[in-house]
Amino acid sequence: MNALTQQEIDRLLDLAEEARDHSYAPYSKYHVGAALLTADGQVYQGCNIENAAFTPTNCAERTAFFKAVYDGHRAFKAIAIIATGEEMGFPCGVCRQVMAEFCDRDFIIITANKDRSKVDVSPFETLLPHSFGPKDLDV
Ligand code: THU
Repeated sequence: MNALTQQEIDRLLDLAEEARDHSYAPYSKYHVGAALLTADGQVYQGCNIENAAFTPTNCAERTAFFKAVYDGHRAFKAIAIIATGEEMGFPCGVCRQVMAEFCDRDFIIITANKDRSKVDVSPFETLLPHSFGPKDLDV
């Protein structure tokens, strides 16, 4: 079972909030930060990086995952995400599919609204049930 203490949740949210300050979002002005906890206890931060052509925009979650995977990490425990909305911002479908590549069903997704007055903690399985992943290709 993969459980986090309240202290770990708060720390990941702190780091996601810090990452949000790095966001490049001149078009949407919706700034997002993420903090990804690896299985061995390291944290990778990410932010959304937008583009004038729109399509190349990268979400905060994927920035964090790609940094970590580049460094050799393949197993993860949790991610915290905090944006600038009044409501919590849950990961988009593309980011959920990236999670499906590297995360187990009990990977924890923490989301918070801009001032952290609303926080949700959910296992990956509830955000993307019946996911398609490496197991389907016998990898
Ligand atoms: N965004 C994220 O960074 N993560 C999500 O899960 C949802 C959307 C970003 C992409 C874009 O820069 C902005 O939020 C508005 O969609």
